[in-house]
Amino acid sequence: MNQTLERWSSRRAFILAVTGAAVGLGNIWRFPYITGENGGAAFLLLYVFFVVLLGLPVMMAEIMIGRAGRRSPMQSLGYLASRAGRNTSWRWLGLFGAFTVFCILSFYSVVSGWSIDFMVSAFRGDFNGQTGPQIGAYFDAFLTNPSRMAFNHTLFLVMTMAVVACGVSKGLERLNNLLMPALYLLLIILAGHAMSMDGFGPALAWLFTPDFSAVTPMVFVHAMGHAFFTLAVGACALMAYGAYMPDHQSLPGAAAAVAVLDVLVALLAGIAIFSVVFTQGMDPAGGPGLVFVTLPVAFADLPMGAFWLGLFFLLLLLATWTSSINLAEPMVSTLVGWGLKRPLAALVVGICVWVVGLLCVASFSTLSDFHVIGKMNFFDLISTIPPEVFLPLGGLMIAIFAAWVMPEQEALRALDAGPNGFRVWRTVVRWVSIPMVVILLISPLFK
Ligand code: PFF
Ligand code: NA
Repeated sequence: MNQTLERWSSRRAFILAVTGAAVGLGNIWRFPYITGENGGAAFLLLYVFFVVLLGLPVMMAEIMIGRAGRRSPMQSLGYLASRAGRNTSWRWLGLFGAFTVFCILSFYSVVSGWSIDFMVSAFRGDFNGQTGPQIGAYFDAFLTNPSRMAFNHTLFLVMTMAVVACGVSKGLERLNNLLMPALYLLLIILAGHAMSMDGFGPALAWLFTPDFSAVTPMVFVHAMGHAFFTLAVGACALMAYGAYMPDHQSLPGAAAAVAVLDVLVALLAGIAIFSVVFTQGMDPAGGPGLVFVTLPVAFADLPMGAFWLGLFFLLLLLATWTSSINLAEPMVSTLVGWGLKRPLAALVVGICVWVVGLLCVASFSTLSDFHVIGKMNFFDLISTIPPEVFLPLGGLMIAIFAAWVMPEQEALRALDAGPNGFRVWRTVVRWVSIPMVVILLISPLFK
C-alpha cells in the first residue's frame, strides 16, 4: 500500500489529537486509585520519573515510526523494516498492539459507562444531601446491578464505534478542542475548592512527601505500567496518529506538551480527590470506585453542586470518548487493511469488545467469586495485565525498532529535532529506556 497523503490540519490539531488520546480515565479514574493502592507520594514520584525517562522517549519512537512509514502501523513497520533490509516480521508488532487495545477497550468501555450513569444521576440531583458512606453504598449497589452496567457499557461502545465507523471525524476533533479546556477549568476549580477542606493539608502531605520504605519492586512495575497507559504509549495507537503528522513540526516539543498536560490533569484530579478522602476519613486504597464516590461528596457542598457534578461527568465522558476512539482505531484500521469495509470492521470490533466487556460487567456480580489468578477476578486481570505487561512489552519492541532497526536517516527526519536532538533521543532510548523496561519486566520473575 502507498503512503497516505492525509495530514492533521495543523501542528495544533496534531497535539490536540494526541492529547485527546492521552487524557482520559487514566488521569481521573486510574491515577488516583492506583496511587491510593500504592501508598501515595513515592508512587507519584516514580510515575513522573517513568513518564520522563520511558513514556516520553518511547512516545516519540512510536510517533516517529508512524510518521516515517505514513501507513497503518502494521504496514509502516513492515515497510521500514524492509527499507532497512531487516526481517519484515516486525509488522506483527502492529497486530500485538491491536490485541492490547482490544483488551484495554473492553474494560475502558465498562468504566466509561459508569460516568454515563453517574452523569444522569448527578443532573437528576440523586446525590443531593448524601454523605460519603451513603454514596459508597449507592456505588456498591450500582456495581452489583449487571443489567444497568451492561446498558451503559453498550451505550458507550455504540457511541465509540459509530464515530470510528464514519472515520475519525473532524466534528469530534472540534468538540474535543472546544470542550477539553472546560474540563481543565473545572478541575482547577475543584482543586481550588479542595483548599478549603480539612483534608487538603493531609492530602498534599500524602501526595508529595514520599515514604520509600513502602516501595516494593511491584510498585515500580505498577508505576511503569501507568506511565505507558496514561500517555497511550505501547499499543501502536499513537503510531496510527503519527502517520498523519504534518511536515515541519518538531516531535519532542509536541510530545512534551502532551506529557506535561497529562501529568497536570492527573495531579489536579489527585489533589481534588484525596482532599475529600482525608476530609471524610475514607480509605485512599478504596479501589476502582474512588472517584465515583469522592466526587459526588466534593460537589455536595458547592453551590449548584448537582449541576457541576453532572457537568464534570459529562466532560469526563468526552475525555474518555476521544481516548476510546484512539483505542478502537488500530483494530479497525487493521481489518480495513485486510479488505473489510470500515463500517463492517467497526461492527465486528464492536461486537467482540462488547462480549468481553460483558465479562467485566459480570465480574462485579455474577462472576465476582470467579478468581482467574490468585485473588484477581476477570475485571482485575484485564485492567491490570494489558496496561502493566502488554503496553511495556509493546513499548519495548517499539523502542528497539525505532532506535536500532529502522533506517537512521528516516528516524532522524521523523523526529525533526536536528542531528543533536536525535542523538540525545537515541542515546536515552538505547541506554536508559530499553534496559529499564527489560529490568522491570523481568523483575517480578525473581520475587
Ligand atoms: N491514555 C488513555 C487514558 O489515560 O485514559 C488510555 C489509553 C488510550 C491507553 C490509548 C492506551 C491507548 F492506546
Ligand atoms: Na492519560
